[in-house]
Amino acid sequence: MSDIKHRFAPVPTLRTGQAHPHPEPIGGDTYSAVELMPGFRVVVLDQRKLPTIERYEFLTRVDEVADAIRNMLVRGAPAIGVCAAYGMVVAAVAEKGDGPAFLEAMSAADATLRAARPTAVNLAWALDRMKRITEEARSLEYAVRTERIASEARALHKAEIAACKAIGALGAPFVPENATILTHCNAGALATGGYGTALGIVRAAHEAGKKVRVLACETRPYLQGARLTAWELAKDQIPVEVITDSMAAHFMAKKAVDLVVAGADRIARNGDSANKIGTYGLACIAAAHEVPFYIAAPWSTVDLGCPNGDAIPIEERSERELSHFALPDGNSIQIVPDGVRVRNPSFDVTPHALITAIVTERGVVQPVSEGELAKLATQ
Ligand code: MRU
Repeated sequence: MSDIKHRFAPVPTLRTGQAHPHPEPIGGDTYSAVELMPGFRVVVLDQRKLPTIERYEFLTRVDEVADAIRNMLVRGAPAIGVCAAYGMVVAAVAEKGDGPAFLEAMSAADATLRAARPTAVNLAWALDRMKRITEEARSLEYAVRTERIASEARALHKAEIAACKAIGALGAPFVPENATILTHCNAGALATGGYGTALGIVRAAHEAGKKVRVLACETRPYLQGARLTAWELAKDQIPVEVITDSMAAHFMAKKAVDLVVAGADRIARNGDSANKIGTYGLACIAAAHEVPFYIAAPWSTVDLGCPNGDAIPIEERSERELSHFALPDGNSIQIVPDGVRVRNPSFDVTPHALITAIVTERGVVQPVSEGELAKLATQ
């Protein structure tokens, strides 16, 4: 008889919670995905360890910030943009030279951060904004210049949260009373630096007094839905149930889903939207069952330079994310036989025709088309 007990022996789980390290956080009083500490250290909540371990990591070098993005201590399109902006502050602190030496160091930092993850355009968007301020501030005295760059990064962080709240306000009317909202991955406070996009709509509907319930797809292979969406909704006492990704069709067929709301990592000019792998499948199932399918994203996710979904770079992540179950204590369980290759594209593209509406802080795009999206471009 096979030793099932041995193969699935309980793994000791650490349950630890670390108090919020920031005295005046921008992202939230209880927890923040990323903040700039007094003294210009970057602090990130290590999302790889959630939901059982709440641990903050302090980063003082640009390569550490880039690693935190690449290795997904901080993840979610807007949050990695915010983190990269704070990475540029760390770079500014490290370079005391003036003029060309400063610009050279900042340009090297920009390149390191920009290469950390390819799909979410918010990373490049945030770095472009920081580049403008870097150039403006280059001839200021060191301390003034550093503070100027830091205040720009903090302003960017605050603006992303304000965008989420506006998305929430614009999206909440699409949520009927007593709604069951299906979501994928994590497009919440952890993914944005505060409040959330898809979960911003959920939060706004809940705050408006509507009875809402969330079905969170677990989101293989990284389990952002099971680990992160469930964690942050449970913290806010918003009803949430986790399902496997493969259960979504069943629940839609049973008419147990009123709407789907997902985030995005890059929205092309024609409205095609890249998001966590599995989102496209959900959109197909939603269309088959006539369930409305919404994308919620800040304008920093819109890439007007990208004509359509085919032009969006899709990140392929390590095979190990799929072949092994990572445990919060750093161990892992192998679930694919030795020598068998796996495929791990981290994102897919939902064609605009399958999206009921895109909710941005600038307005709602409906129907989703190049022309409708262009109307918001000049705001
Ligand atoms: O690989 P991740 O966890 O960074 O992927 C995140 C997502 O796909 C989110 O849905 C997206 O970034 C939107 S976050 C508001």
